[in-house]
Amino acid sequence: MSRVGKKLKIGITYDLRDDYLKEGFGFEETAEFDLPDTIEAIEKVIIDNGFQADRIGNIKGLARRLVAGNRWDLVFNIAEGLHGFGREAQVPALLEAYNIPYTFSDPLGHALSLHKGMTKHVLRDLGIPTPDFAVVNNQTDIDKINLPFPLFAKPVAEGTGKGITSFSKITTRKNLQKIYKKLLKTFKQPVLIETYLPGREFTVGILGTGKDARALGVLEVILKPAAEKNAYSYENKEHYDRLVEYILVKDDEAQKAMEISLMAWRALDLKDAGRIDLRSDAKGVPHFMEVNSLAGLNPVRSDLPILCSKIGMSYHKLITSIIKSALKRTKK
Ligand SMILES: Nc1ncnc2c1ncn2[C@@H]1O[C@H](COP(=O)(O)OP(=O)(O)OP(=O)(O)O)[C@@H](O)[C@H]1O
Ligand SMILES: [Mg+2]
Repeated sequence: MSRVGKKLKIGITYDLRDDYLKEGFGFEETAEFDLPDTIEAIEKVIIDNGFQADRIGNIKGLARRLVAGNRWDLVFNIAEGLHGFGREAQVPALLEAYNIPYTFSDPLGHALSLHKGMTKHVLRDLGIPTPDFAVVNNQTDIDKINLPFPLFAKPVAEGTGKGITSFSKITTRKNLQKIYKKLLKTFKQPVLIETYLPGREFTVGILGTGKDARALGVLEVILKPAAEKNAYSYENKEHYDRLVEYILVKDDEAQKAMEISLMAWRALDLKDAGRIDLRSDAKGVPHFMEVNSLAGLNPVRSDLPILCSKIGMSYHKLITSIIKSALKRTKK
């Protein structure tokens, strides 16, 4: 893919977990951040494709380099950011200000999908199945909730199972009160309360943008007997190798999950690659839970690469396809 006479220069923006741990941030606070082997793996694919790779680091590093006059033909952006609902949108917004192309979604797509309540408003408006819900900020909001139990509670804008345990499934008003208070205090953001989905759980991998987007396949997430109950929780994600089984599935329910995911992906105008999480209701109808517009890309641990390896797509092919998809948006 190198252009004639010029080796494309691809920058990489990311938030390295170690950098933040060194600055004194906690283990769970930094759970979504990247491990060094993720950056190494992406860099290797860039170089193997004949491009030039340049590690930029986080948004502060990017800002310094931009001011110093550095430019790139494309930035492979996996920076999650630290502050606010726009945290994943910050690097794309900065790059747009300098007219530098980048991988994955634009600021609108990232901000919208990080906020699970806003995402659900948009998708419900389009008729995509998603559990009934309320976004609560205070006691008045909680008192107004009139949804049937069991319910499920989670921070409105986190990932990697943060704030999710077996107690996230709630069967009484007393526990609703207790859990919502705890989540509000710990994560300092609104809490999403929604109908509990008791059925099978799926994660669907998506590659491409708009009409070119396709669903790569469906992994059923099965909690093993030793796993924490009720949810694919933080604990279950941390010890996935012992507690979770991932099975590639193609039955009718899985096909339906794929269809819903592709509709949601296109409706939210997300780009290049990502993952959509669904669970079925008691009747076996898959419902949208959340979308990851910046899906984890650790070659071994992350769900999207795990799914790709199960369908016979190498990590090299996945990353190269993401780069190709992003380059389609550039005029070069
Ligand atoms: N409404 C629900 N009903 C039943 N289980 C749910 C519901 N919402 C979430 N869960 C469970 O909690 C898990 C984590 O929820 P969700 O995917 O929203 O969180 P996340 O932390 O953003 O995940 P990721 O690691 O994919 O970023 C789900 O995989 C599922 O097992
Ligand atoms: Mg999820």
